[in-house]
Amino acid sequence: VYAAPRTTQQLTLQEKAALLTGDTFWSTVAVERLGIPALGLTDGPHGVRKQRASPDTIGLGDSIPATCFPPASGLASSFNPALVRRVGQALGDEARTQGIAVLLGPGVNIKRSPLCGRNFEYFSEDPLLSGELGAAWVGGIQSRGVGASVKHFAANNQETNRMTVSAEVDERTLREIYLPAFERVVTSEQPYTVMCSYNRLNGVAASENHWLLTTLLRDEWGFDGLVMSDWGAVIDRVAALKAGLDLEMPGPLPESSAEIVAAVQAGVLDESVVDTAVARMLHLVQRTAPAPDPKASPELPAEMVAAHHLLARAAAAESIVLLRNEGPILPLDAGTPVAVIGEFARTPRFQGAGSSQVSPTMVDTALCAISGLTRVEFAPGYSLEPKGDSAHLIAEAVELARTSATVVLFVGLPPIDESEGYDRSHLDLPAAQLSLIEQIAAVNPRTVVVLTNGGVVSLEPWHDSVPAIVEAWLLGQAGGSAVADMLFGVVAPSGRLAESIPYRLQDTPSYVNFPGENDVVRYGEGVFVGYRYYETVDVAVRYPFGHGLGYTTFAYSDLAVSRRGDTASVTITNTGNTAGAEVAQLYVGAPGATVRVACRELRGFEKVALEPGASVRVEFQLERRAYSHWDVATSGWMVEGGEYRVEIGRSAHDIQLSTTLSLPKPPVPTLTLDSRVSDFLAHPVTGPLLVRAAGEATNGEASLLTMVASMPIRRLMRFPGVGSSFARIGLLIALANNPVVRWVAAHLPHR
Ligand code: BGC
Repeated sequence: VYAAPRTTQQLTLQEKAALLTGDTFWSTVAVERLGIPALGLTDGPHGVRKQRASPDTIGLGDSIPATCFPPASGLASSFNPALVRRVGQALGDEARTQGIAVLLGPGVNIKRSPLCGRNFEYFSEDPLLSGELGAAWVGGIQSRGVGASVKHFAANNQETNRMTVSAEVDERTLREIYLPAFERVVTSEQPYTVMCSYNRLNGVAASENHWLLTTLLRDEWGFDGLVMSDWGAVIDRVAALKAGLDLEMPGPLPESSAEIVAAVQAGVLDESVVDTAVARMLHLVQRTAPAPDPKASPELPAEMVAAHHLLARAAAAESIVLLRNEGPILPLDAGTPVAVIGEFARTPRFQGAGSSQVSPTMVDTALCAISGLTRVEFAPGYSLEPKGDSAHLIAEAVELARTSATVVLFVGLPPIDESEGYDRSHLDLPAAQLSLIEQIAAVNPRTVVVLTNGGVVSLEPWHDSVPAIVEAWLLGQAGGSAVADMLFGVVAPSGRLAESIPYRLQDTPSYVNFPGENDVVRYGEGVFVGYRYYETVDVAVRYPFGHGLGYTTFAYSDLAVSRRGDTASVTITNTGNTAGAEVAQLYVGAPGATVRVACRELRGFEKVALEPGASVRVEFQLERRAYSHWDVATSGWMVEGGEYRVEIGRSAHDIQLSTTLSLPKPPVPTLTLDSRVSDFLAHPVTGPLLVRAAGEATNGEASLLTMVASMPIRRLMRFPGVGSSFARIGLLIALANNPVVRWVAAHLPHR
């Protein structure tokens, strides 16, 4: 039992080095002499995957039953941080019960391409949504004394060559798209640990990236926890330690400790670097105290299992996105018989493959749940076995559809199609399922399609042939009941897309760069990821980011933004006949920005539940960051000032209300000989003087000034016959930079 905080001085160099490597696949090293316990680590993120068998292997598929909550791609569609926090708390309770100190999650990598095989484990294409939900998850789990491990830090946005590929990302893109979710989690919740990714970032392995693991994470963001490697991410142990990577996983790896000891003894590694990492390890032990026994493997108590299954069901219900509902055909009347078609209704796929795969405590099937609400006839329609007899199954299903009033058709990606470790190469459903949809839609106009998939799938070419489409993601162990609840109106759908659904793979912004070549992937689309691209370039998508229908209607009114832009508020009214929830999305655009910015970016969202006829005033707090871009020249966030558009949308494409806001421009810049002609022209004092002078010199041909606008004035002066002299320009500069003139100028309108 861990008795009192220990210091590094009580440990030998060998003990210290040993503490920085795993003892097993899933635990850290104990130092019994000092009462320092081993800590148990297990995967997440959407359930506790504690291995039953020997902890010396990765042990996929053999873990103690634990609640399987909806994976992140589903949960993100809830747009509900309070719900995600509750899921985090439940995960914390299960981890504690099973003797786990750190649960390896959440994954807050951005969905750069819909092809990423691990998109089911990530929240969104949007950094704000990913960060808010990631922070809620971490806050929830750590409230139970169990640490989180935010992963995979950073720019791990594909599985192809994940251990070697270099993500080539410019700094503005990193700062605005790929880092903010990590930053938000770190600065608001102080996760106990961060997990570095496998890939290289701009040529340097994340595990050896001092800028990433120390300069940014600790010095800039103030991270005070421990950095661990992804399993097998370390290449050079000593380089990694120097860069700020404290714990190498997995173990046992005596060679790793030996390398550390040898480097200290050879004088190439300062022992203080080892001490710092060990101090962080001891801090983690203290934070997770009383340290659970990692060898304990208790089954979860029955009450916890039951309560968490209900929470998983509520979370799944909020994660479902109703994409289309013509008629409206949904909700279905309880009591009306339906044909349920599709193997997924009977054999649900409710999580993705790879390290996050948990053994559920129980599984609800949609077939069973719908049978509890109405009379059902079932046909599988397809087989999940690769060599299934599709022609016969399709014929049988079509016959059932022909003679049924309503069909609920479950289709989706088979397990093999998406997994950790590899990416998809297309967005299509299996050919047999496409054929099934087409034939069923042809014989039954009342067909509701329910999708099972972790990353988005194409809804073409069948979209228009069915009246209703339900995006049911991978919903965790209670997903079957949640889908039935939603179809029959027991629960109103309230999920919103956390990623855009394109018409074609070719329309996606990373199409020509994903997944790269020769071990390099260039993030050529820059900050234009997901809806930022589609909306700016005006590329139509099948369904935009933020889209989702409910069973009632809402109206927005009275958008108001404070003069400084730090708060915005809007009234939402449920104008329909049933209760429901709406997700108000606040976007900001900066049409006058001098750098290329997306036409709108999500800066706030709020989910509200309202009874029919009820209204609520929703308030958004907006930080300076909402109006900033990353300024490469000054390496900092810059509010340029000028005109901004503040919008309230139902999706990134469906803007309901919009207003403008004018923010002050920064003080008038200091002019020098290296300033451009355009800077002189923009200046309220020198601008008019220069135009006058140029007018005299060029006989009024002002276009000459436009032609030379980008020239530094020093260079312009070197052209003979310019009609001015360094001395006269010197006077102009002195005048412009005079404090009194600057003060006056700051209060004059800029050009
Ligand atoms: C994955 C991590 C996971 C670790 C341990 C790695 O392959 O990338 O997300 O936590 O394995 O299973």
